[in-house]
Amino acid sequence: MSVHPSPDAAPAGRKPITLHRLREMHVAGEPISMLTCYDAAFARVLDHAGVDCLLIGDSLGMVLQGLGSTLPVTLTDMAYHVRCVAQGNRSAWVIGDLPFGSYQQSHAQAMESATALMQAGAHMVKLEGGGWTADTVRFLTQRGIPVCAHLGLTPQSVHALGGYRIQGRDEASATTLRLHAQQLADAGAAMLVLELMPSAVTAAITASLPIPTIGIGAGVDCAGQVLVLHDMLGLGHGKQPRFVRDFMQGAASIEAAIATYVADVKTRRFPDPTLHGY
Ligand code: KIV
Repeated sequence: MSVHPSPDAAPAGRKPITLHRLREMHVAGEPISMLTCYDAAFARVLDHAGVDCLLIGDSLGMVLQGLGSTLPVTLTDMAYHVRCVAQGNRSAWVIGDLPFGSYQQSHAQAMESATALMQAGAHMVKLEGGGWTADTVRFLTQRGIPVCAHLGLTPQSVHALGGYRIQGRDEASATTLRLHAQQLADAGAAMLVLELMPSAVTAAITASLPIPTIGIGAGVDCAGQVLVLHDMLGLGHGKQPRFVRDFMQGAASIEAAIATYVADVKTRRFPDPTLHGY
């Protein structure tokens, strides 16, 4: 990796990304770029490359900890990595995943968990699940905590879903996804991640909501895109899903690969619609 800028330097000419700025981008039709990020060194690189949002995903359980799922990831793990990312970041919008079991029990539990991530440096928390999370989204939002919801393949429910499978393939489940998306937006979610679903479902949800949708394996019709950092750097192990592009192919450095990702999201060269076969 090449020499990093000083930890205290904000990227030249880059204003901090705020919720207001993300809304402006959405209204202007400018795609939002997001990558997962788990530490200060990469936070600096991503921030300097112009990535809009850094997601400290609970995917860190699989990517960093070598686990088979995100289920064992704890709030303490998440707060640690949010703090690391916040140390390296100066201007990107920082989103921390609420891990499995940290928000399902009660509003008080969700508030306590969200507080831990916000105090560690997150600007927004993300939680997985359909309409049943709408009350929690409303509760947190009303208390000044921006919330990103997450629909489609929700990895914390992998066992209930019967594996890492495409969601919303039949009319009934597509209708349910559309309904849940509306409920989450009505409850105050400021952003919605859509994971592994057909393009037609993504397009319908994106067109019907006032908030930005961020897709992963969900086609081109989202307001933004997210990938797992290690996957797009060619470090994912095992067979990679078709929607993942290895941006290190042909790139001279990690910085160049990230810059290409940002440029390709902004110009809608990524994702490639021909690779989205569902
Ligand atoms: O945990 C994570 O990295 C995520 C992304 C896949 C959206 O939730």
